[in-house]
Amino acid sequence: GPQEQLTVNLINHLGKKITVPVREGENMLQLVLKHNLNFLGFGICEGTLTCSTCHLILEKEVFQKLGPISEEELDILDLTCGVTATSRLACQLCMTKAMDKQTLWVPMETDTSGSK
Ligand code: FES
Repeated sequence: GPQEQLTVNLINHLGKKITVPVREGENMLQLVLKHNLNFLGFGICEGTLTCSTCHLILEKEVFQKLGPISEEELDILDLTCGVTATSRLACQLCMTKAMDKQTLWVPMETDTSGSK
């Protein structure tokens, strides 16, 4: 039913895993920020689709169950450091039942411009 409690496993860039409650439709960027799994610079454009720092990696089975990705998101993913076949931008991704009890990774390799 609509009150059903969903959970998701989040693994941060240091490999720390937490399981957190989440409601259907909740934005994944907000979820990562809420649970302090972000690192400096994560989600820096605050969901305006101009940064690619909110990169998350999904399991293949989950990725395939989600709806189509917008052209705008695909354009940014093209420029995302370490992008994978199952990458999404957290700010464009909202919780669905397909993600219940599944795992999302904050990539370990990130575009830390200036550190290379
Ligand atoms: Fe910048 Fe998602 S927060 S693209």
